[in-house]
Amino acid sequence: MSRSERINFGSRLGVVLATAGSAVGLGNVWRFPFMTGHNGGAAFILIYLGCILLLGIPGMISEFIVGRHSASNAARSYRRLANGTPWMVIGYMGVFTSMLILGFYAVVAGWCLQYLFASLAEKLQGDAAFVSRYFADFSSDPVKPALWAVVFVLITHVVVSRGIRDGIEKASKLLMPLLFVLLVFIVVASCMLPGAGKGVEFLFKPDFSKLNTGVFLEALGQAFFSLSLGTACLCTYASYFGRRTNLAGAAVQIALIDTLIAILAGLMIFPAAFSVGVHPDSGPSLIFITLPNVFREAFIGVPAVGYVVSVLFYALMSLAALTSTISMHEIGTAFFHEELKLSRRGGAAIVTVLCCVMTVLCSLSFGACPGLSVAGRSLMDCFDYITAQVLMPLAAFLTCLFVGWYIPRKVVADELSNHGSYDAWYTGLYLYSVRIVCPLGILAIFLHQFGLI
Ligand code: TRP
Repeated sequence: MSRSERINFGSRLGVVLATAGSAVGLGNVWRFPFMTGHNGGAAFILIYLGCILLLGIPGMISEFIVGRHSASNAARSYRRLANGTPWMVIGYMGVFTSMLILGFYAVVAGWCLQYLFASLAEKLQGDAAFVSRYFADFSSDPVKPALWAVVFVLITHVVVSRGIRDGIEKASKLLMPLLFVLLVFIVVASCMLPGAGKGVEFLFKPDFSKLNTGVFLEALGQAFFSLSLGTACLCTYASYFGRRTNLAGAAVQIALIDTLIAILAGLMIFPAAFSVGVHPDSGPSLIFITLPNVFREAFIGVPAVGYVVSVLFYALMSLAALTSTISMHEIGTAFFHEELKLSRRGGAAIVTVLCCVMTVLCSLSFGACPGLSVAGRSLMDCFDYITAQVLMPLAAFLTCLFVGWYIPRKVVADELSNHGSYDAWYTGLYLYSVRIVCPLGILAIFLHQFGLI
């Protein structure tokens, strides 16, 4: 397919909102708050910001360069630039990783849907022990969570199979502003609670005594996950960018939106948690076990507000998850559509079927069938570990080396300056970063993970 026949996002706003939609997800509203809570608040956030700036933005630009230059699905994009060398593996790895991620991400997204309906039907009312039992009962049910996860994949399928402009771009233009409004509403409600100031302080006043290398590396991993780096997701989206899109500018804008939303998510959760005396360091279960009760207690004087806030909260989580699952699905859809020469719907159907099977297995492995495990980890844990801790950093590492050292400098300079139509003064800085700073940073995560440093 020639470049002129291939569809692009229809507007600059579409580019930014769709890509920001990929970046903004459960990573921001679920993972970021619990990691911040776990790692001591503001000091973690400062390091996180450093990681976004030094490693995240250059990493995003690298994927953008590969994707827009080749204007095709991730596997073909890397293949074209790699000229038959083993570098082309990165693209295939990305397609594979994104489908695995969709498999377990849809499980958590399905929980959000279940909680949305449960809070609508006022089924989440009770004390802390009740809410915690509710989660244990629900997540170990053999049918319900798996069904919700499949529903989530099917909703994603409907959007993606409608195409780039009518599906992904339209959905992003609708969902992202909605998400923002919901978020601001809950932030305001949460910050007006008595005692909320302590939560705000936790978020913004750094306590450097909590820092160690582990915190640094967790921040790095979180930055990558949150920006959707390392699965060729950004590369696939960039293949739909127009010729006039400023790649570095888009990367900076998207990173800013993503960070803003993560911090707002902190401002929504911590003030409410502190105001009822819950310390938000409970880890991944924060959202499903601690929070339902926090909202109920915080607004106990005006139960109607408590009700509205918890319903909107789970609606927000579901929306954020949806814009992200759309992007994961699109990677595989573009791949099957172009590589197997199927229709777009055909490509989307293959991804949906594969992901439904995976997500059901993941869901069962979490609760009803703990026997579904590999090396002592449930399938869900296993997918999470392999993708977030191994495949994504590996792909990001290889992409930086590939763009920094292998592909011709002229390609990089042309993509950054849109063929000389403006002055990309930062090209040298960018190259230094992807040649040296990013690979060393990522290598540090790896060595730390395997206990070598
Ligand atoms: N960035 C998303 C989040 O913060 C998750 C996500 C979407 C993702 N697409 C991705 C992660 C591709 C890795 C790869 O929740």
